[in-house]
Amino acid sequence: MEDKEILTIVNGLKNGNHKSISKSKISETNLLKIADKLKEDNFDISILINIILHNNINENCDWNIGSILQHFDYNEIIGALQNVSQNRRGYLYDSIGFCWALGECPYKNEQVIEFLYEVINNGRNSESWWRAAFALEKITGKNAINNLKRSLKNYGAISLEDSLEDLSDKKNVINVLLHANSNVIREVIYPRLKERFNSSNSEKELVNIIWLSGRLRLYDESMLSKSLEILETTSSYETKYYILQAMIDDPKTIYLKYFREFLDSDDKLIKKMAIAGLAELGAKVDVTELERLLQNEKSPNVISSLSKAIYMVKNNYFAEERNYIRKYMVNENGLIGDDSDKWYADASIYNLFSEAEDPENVCFNIIFNRLLSEKIRVMNPVDLATGTGRAAKFILNNISYDGTLYAVDYSKQMLEYFERTINRQKYYVKDIHLQHSKIEDFKIPNGEKSSFIISSFGFPSKISDKDRCRNELENVFDLLTDDGVFVTLGWDETFNDDLNNMWYKYIPDNIRAANFEEWRKMREASIESARNCMLTWYKKNIKVPLLYDTLEETINVMGHLFGRDAALEILKNKRTMWWMSLGITWDNKESLARILKK
Ligand SMILES: C[S@@+](CC[C@H](N)C(=O)[O-])C[C@H]1O[C@@H](n2cnc3c(N)ncnc32)[C@H](O)[C@@H]1O
Repeated sequence: MEDKEILTIVNGLKNGNHKSISKSKISETNLLKIADKLKEDNFDISILINIILHNNINENCDWNIGSILQHFDYNEIIGALQNVSQNRRGYLYDSIGFCWALGECPYKNEQVIEFLYEVINNGRNSESWWRAAFALEKITGKNAINNLKRSLKNYGAISLEDSLEDLSDKKNVINVLLHANSNVIREVIYPRLKERFNSSNSEKELVNIIWLSGRLRLYDESMLSKSLEILETTSSYETKYYILQAMIDDPKTIYLKYFREFLDSDDKLIKKMAIAGLAELGAKVDVTELERLLQNEKSPNVISSLSKAIYMVKNNYFAEERNYIRKYMVNENGLIGDDSDKWYADASIYNLFSEAEDPENVCFNIIFNRLLSEKIRVMNPVDLATGTGRAAKFILNNISYDGTLYAVDYSKQMLEYFERTINRQKYYVKDIHLQHSKIEDFKIPNGEKSSFIISSFGFPSKISDKDRCRNELENVFDLLTDDGVFVTLGWDETFNDDLNNMWYKYIPDNIRAANFEEWRKMREASIESARNCMLTWYKKNIKVPLLYDTLEETINVMGHLFGRDAALEILKNKRTMWWMSLGITWDNKESLARILKK
């Protein structure tokens, strides 16, 4: 661009005239020149914001404004944003450029964060909605896709069928992810993505399909030739980015040839992504080629990609990371939040989770010691919702009892798993009986009673269902001897711990909250009394860890429960421990009678 042209644009902008920046997307270098010139003349950036607010601007203009803004002092941008009146603020939600520019803010600012959340929660334009989430991720580190999933869940779910009809819309793309569980991917999503990919002519839709396919690891060679054609013809930064990202996400040896060709590209983005692709291919890459390129490279951005790539190819640390990603980052959505108890389906994974909770049995020992001090003679102990037998095993190993230990659960998979443990560990030398039953229906044979009923993370089976809570408690009351006790172990219901933070971050639920503190308070308030059953707290605020033996086990289990993004974060931070804040309730027949008004 000639200096004269730049000057015309600058003078136009000073008068609020946006025609000159609406014709096309201006290159980064020229936008920087424009910004520098404006800054020299003490330009008031609220003029740019007013252009967005008052004029029905096109995509080019919006992009150019965003890219000019990024070069200004962010205090000025935030000041200008604050000056926008409340009733006009909503018009800014539609601006992709403005949302993008906020993501470049070099420091964490509450105003910026608040605005971006407003866009995610209220924005109608899917593209700015999407951009706001990625901007927020850049500033706060909070995962963009999870924020988008949460927003869709809270503010308007769409049917999977409807969203597969139009994948040019980013909200539909996220909705597909919300539905992306293994069977649905295979039966519905995969065939429909292929069909749309082959028939669609819309670049926007094709790119979204490529992005989705990359993320779900469905991108394959058959999509490659059409993608390469688009790559050659497109001028869109986003298109190039997502095509290469899909290839990087699931790197196949066949891409080696293309990544190597792209190394010669004049386009810095393509070159950088080709390097990232080679880095992901690891051992299959000739590292001397990368070293030679690094020697000759001058651009700092490319130098950083090349030096990183050399490490990723050469060093085993990164090979191991890649291996974990391939093996364990397979669940799009975590199974823990699902109301349908899906996360219990794989008992062996559940067992690893359960064993990792309070591995030193601090909570069980508290219970055990009180049983001893109150001299309670344990007869026919019952472990309600036994799962893979965590509490039952403690009883088997530590408590002498008369009669039979009943381990009750409604999941056959859990009981089958526990049965195998019993055989392996020879637990059958004590009297133990596994019973497939709902908590509310379980009866001890011959009308016998129990003096010790416990439930670890199992009572009530659905805390939000008042009727079920009542029926389950009634049954516990009936099962209990006159001198018996009913003990529950679980959250202390403050939800104020590391593990709940993970829940907040990675499990999109229906709680509308802007941050963890707000979320946990709302969760706390949704429970009226201990276990929502007016039970009696014995101890709260017991801090015990969820602690895994190895990183691999952590990624496997947590990836299964919290989804792939959680697993990725864990891998990057090498985290194997989360504090949990637990509580124990303790009731006898008398207190239960009071609760049930007997
Ligand atoms: C969070 S797990 C707890 C398992 C085990 N007590 C532990 O501490 O690891 C909850 C268990 O409750 C079982 N469950 C869910 N609803 C139930 C019901 N209505 N009756 C009996 N068991 C139920 C599930 O199958 C699962 O095994």
